[in-house]
Amino acid sequence: MTAAHELEVVAAEVAVCTDCKLHMSRKLAVPGEGPADAELMFIGEGPGFHENEQGRPFVGAAGNFLEELLASIGLSREEVFITNIVKCRPPGNRDPQAVEIEACSGYLERQTRSLNPKVIVTLGRFSMARFFPNTRISAIHGKAQRIGNRLVVPMYHPAAALHQPSLRKTIQADFARLPELIGREGAPVRAEEPPDMEQLSLF
Ligand code: URA
Ligand code: SF4
Repeated sequence: MTAAHELEVVAAEVAVCTDCKLHMSRKLAVPGEGPADAELMFIGEGPGFHENEQGRPFVGAAGNFLEELLASIGLSREEVFITNIVKCRPPGNRDPQAVEIEACSGYLERQTRSLNPKVIVTLGRFSMARFFPNTRISAIHGKAQRIGNRLVVPMYHPAAALHQPSLRKTIQADFARLPELIGREGAPVRAEEPPDMEQLSLF
């Protein structure tokens, strides 16, 4: 199966999925979107109000900011793949629960395998925790970690960074390093040393 086809199959399954209780309160499931050959994959937390209405990821205020951040590095949302850790909106935008994240994880894994992106950017703590449990975003944001044959870069969630001037600067600076990581600008792709998890957990 081609990557594009597999992504379509996943999206079709997500649209009618009943594997966790989030299906009961959703209007539209939000599988995620982007070209099958995208080099960059963004993983957010879960659909909010507008995403649930439209069935598309990051279309509200956080989405506008994400588009602004992408534009700052010469990219548009049509060039990257954008999805979430859970595909259906948690009621009232509450945090997704562990059992919901687990139920939904197979879709994210299939999307990641088909897409095979050069770089995954996690947005916020829930998607970060899938790759880096027991650490703090404040300690590792913006640092590319090599996992298997790709880089994973944890970043603050745009919804959090949008309204906090210091975090806004931080996420802008973290974005500015992405072109280098996907090998644009002709720079070599370099991973930083993985963090010392034991030390980080003391923060
Ligand atoms: N916040 C997220 O984490 N995901 C979305 O799709 C929209 C807002
Ligand atoms: Fe299925 Fe994921 Fe939606 Fe739960 S959140 S119903 S697992 S698509």
